[in-house]
This record gives sequence, structure tokens and C-alpha cells, in this order.
Amino acid sequence: MARAADRFVCQSCGAVYPRWIGRCDACGEWNSIVEEAAPEAVPKGLGSGKGRRVTLTGLDSPATPPPRRPTGIAELDRVTGGGLVPGSALLVAGDPGIGKSTLLLQAAAVMARNGAAVAYVSGEESPDQVQMRAKRLGLADAPVQLGAATAVRDILATFDEGTAPDLLVVDSIQTMYLDSLDSAPGTVTQVRAAAHELIRFAKRRGTVLVLVGHVTKEGQVAGPRLLEHMVDAVLYFEGERVHQFRVLRSVKNRFGPSNEIGVFEMTDGGLAEVANPSALFLSQRSGGISGSAVFAGIEGSRPVLVEIQALVAPSPLATPRRAVVGWDAGRLAMILAVLDTRCGLALTGKDIYLNVAGGLRIAEPAADLAVAAALVSSLHDRPVPEMAVVFGEVGLSGEVRPVSHSDARLREAAKLGFERAFVPATRGRRHDGIALSEVVRLADLVDMLVDASDVRHGVKETDSR
Ligand SMILES: Nc1ncnc2c1ncn2[C@@H]1O[C@H](COP(=O)(O)OP(=O)(O)OP(=O)(O)O)[C@@H](O)[C@H]1O
Ligand SMILES: [Mg+2]
Ligand SMILES: [Zn+2]
Repeated sequence: MARAADRFVCQSCGAVYPRWIGRCDACGEWNSIVEEAAPEAVPKGLGSGKGRRVTLTGLDSPATPPPRRPTGIAELDRVTGGGLVPGSALLVAGDPGIGKSTLLLQAAAVMARNGAAVAYVSGEESPDQVQMRAKRLGLADAPVQLGAATAVRDILATFDEGTAPDLLVVDSIQTMYLDSLDSAPGTVTQVRAAAHELIRFAKRRGTVLVLVGHVTKEGQVAGPRLLEHMVDAVLYFEGERVHQFRVLRSVKNRFGPSNEIGVFEMTDGGLAEVANPSALFLSQRSGGISGSAVFAGIEGSRPVLVEIQALVAPSPLATPRRAVVGWDAGRLAMILAVLDTRCGLALTGKDIYLNVAGGLRIAEPAADLAVAAALVSSLHDRPVPEMAVVFGEVGLSGEVRPVSHSDARLREAAKLGFERAFVPATRGRRHDGIALSEVVRLADLVDMLVDASDVRHGVKETDSR
């Protein structure tokens, strides 16, 4: 077999270079370029041989939507849009140690107990290790077929004969390899080719294929991004390892809505479903403290209340610190600029820390107003009224814009006992059980927060600025 010259491939995005470079031009990743054997040359053009006619149909074929296989884990079913679709491939990606194997072993066990034929192939752990986890989670009795393998050829030889399993979990795709390729396991070439073969098997046999993918920062192993276009659905398992909350987020779904979330709690007995995330995210809130605001957010189709904490402190540094956890740093800079320019708050020389409590990551612009409330509250050392929620998008001229799903946000707040909401202009709309404080301009919010605490303290303090 004549080997073509080696090439250099970015393990993050798959870009190919003739020589090694320190930083990938395509995706900007550092140290992600690794030498790989070039794939065997493919014949140019079609070559000889006649193609088969493709069967063509209309768009209104009577085919029913693919039947789904509920996993029995409600939060997982929610994220996948109602269960797993036979013949489809799902990628579950996440940081090392976040709980991917735990989640999938639990799903495999529950489905197996409900009568599905389930196989779990581990390329990272020995059967002993997986059995120990199963024992710890109380799943040892579930009829799951467990195997340890890394050669795709062996996996296919095992499952492609007789009846194929209904669910095949492969943990992880970065450990799988094809012996027909020269590259090492974990390289772009291997990960793509191994995924391709496994996905073809799944489609052919109507098996649900679940691939585990590691998110890697070092670029030593090919990341899940490479596979996103090959699979039908992509779920990211997120969370801070120090927190017990885990969020499973769908970023792509060919059979359902994307950006839906499922919330779990990591416990000694494995991942527990969290049916009411708001109560969990707010459980550690201590009332009456300045620098805290409750944001009424929407994740996917579900309202989630979460505490946003800010600390504004005098800075000894020439360039004050800005640290953000769970929100976009650029967005924070924008809110600070608007508070400074449009509301006259002196924030420029201050250290500013912002934290979304519980380890949730928020992407919604609707959080702007809640972030601003937490910042103003900390700066003036006045608590936001304790039983109030805040939401609204802030524009560059300091105007507060309406956001979607405000009824759902308010309903959730009312359900959790909140009595007041700082919201964008409502155009006369009302909400039972919640007093609405309309914020037309960001400067109004500053006034309201200062006034609100004056009423509480019974004194009219003057601004110390
Ligand atoms: N004995 C234990 N008791 C309680 N929790 C445990 C125990 N062992 C592991 N865990 C929890 O499970 C987590 C690891 O879960 P898991 O192995 O499923 O993660 P993973 O994402 O598959 O990791 P990897 O990247 O190593 O494959 C740990 O971070 C820890 O929180
Ligand atoms: Mg694992
Ligand atoms: Zn790249």
C-alpha cells in the first residue's frame, strides 16, 4: 500500500495543513495541529461503473414520523424531544468527569429494565469499572449487555449478526479506531471514520446509537465539533464540577426542538432528575443581601429562575478586574458602559465580579436587566426587594426592551411565591398575583431600587457619589 505524504490536521476543527503551525488559521485554536497519515488517495472523478437509479418521491409521502423510544428518564426525554429515534445517532459531549458515563449507564439500565435490548461498549473503562459504577448506582440487575472494545470492526462483528440492539452506547468515540487506518485513535481521521462506520450500522439496523464525546481543550484528541454534522442530535452535558447541578442541553436536533434543557443533580446514587429547577437554583439564596437579583429566564421551552450575584468593589488596580461566571463577558461590558454613560453610575474604577449562582450558563439577552439590578444593588449596597424577579433586554441608549415569553416567566415567578417583577413596558398587561414595576429606561431601575430600599429603611439616604 503506497502511503501518501503525511499531513497536519487541526484536532479541533479538522482543517488540513501541509506543515505544522502553532495556531490553526481556521479556528484560532493553539497547539491543535497534529501530524496524521494522509488517507489513501481516492480516484479522481467518478471513474468507471454505472450508478443505480435513485427512487424519487413527493414531499407528502404518507410516512409517519419516526416512532420514538422513551428512555424512562423524563429530563432526557424532554431534551431529546420525546425520546430516542431508532436508526439515529446522538452525540453526548461534555468535559471530562462531568458525568457522561453515569448518565448513559443510568439511561441504558432504565431502558433495559423496560424491555429494550441494550448494549454498552466501553473503550475507556474495563468491565470491572463499569460494573462497580453500576453497583454503586443500584443498577447491577439491569439486563444491559456490557462489553469492552475499541476496534470498530469487533463492535460491528458483535452486533451486526442476529438481532441488533435497540440501543448501543459507545463510550467514548475518541477511543474507537479502524484498523484499516494508520492514524492513532483519537485523531480527526480515526474519530470521523469510526463514527461514520458506527452511524452506518445504526441506520442500517434501526439501532439508536449514542456516542460519548469528550470536550478537550488541549487539542490532543479530536473534539466533538467534528462530529456535529454527522449525527442527528447533539447534547452537551454542562456544569461546574464543584456544583451538584448538571444541565443537559440540546444544541442540535433533527427530530425535535434544539436548545431544550434537562436538569440533573449529581448525588451519591447517580444523577437525579430535577423536575423544578427554579426551586433548586434558588435554594441557597439568602434574602436581604445587596448585589443579588433573581432573573426569570427561559431555557428552551422551560422557565427557570436563577439568582444573579454581583460584587462591585473599589479597585487598587490601574485596570480593574472584571470576572464573570455563567454569563458573557462582552455583554457585561456593555451593561457597565450603559450604566456608566446613561445612568451616571461610577463603575469604571471598580472591580466587578458577576456570578450566575448554581453553575448555570445563561445566554439570553433578557438577563440584562437582572444583571444591571444586581450591579446597582451592590454599588449602592441596597438589596433588591426580596420577593422580586427581574427580566428585560437593555439597549445601548439605555432603553429596556420587551422579551419573549413574559407570561411564562411571570407564571413561574408566581408559582414560587414571588410578588413583584421588574419588567419592560407591558402595554397595559397585568398578571395575577404579581405586581409589575415597568422599567422603560435603565435609569428608572436605578431610581426604583434606591427608592425601594429607602421605603424599607424608612430614611431617605442621599447618593454617596
Ligand atoms: N464513589 C462515588 N461516589 C459519589 N460520586 C461519585 C463517585 N465516583 C464518581 N462520582 C461522581 O461521578 C463523576 C464522574 O462521573 P462519570 O465517570 O460518569 O463522568 P464522565 O463524564 O464519564 O467522566 P470521564 O471523562 O472520565 O469519562 C465524578 O465527578 C463524581 O462526581
Ligand atoms: Mg466516562
Ligand atoms: Zn482548527
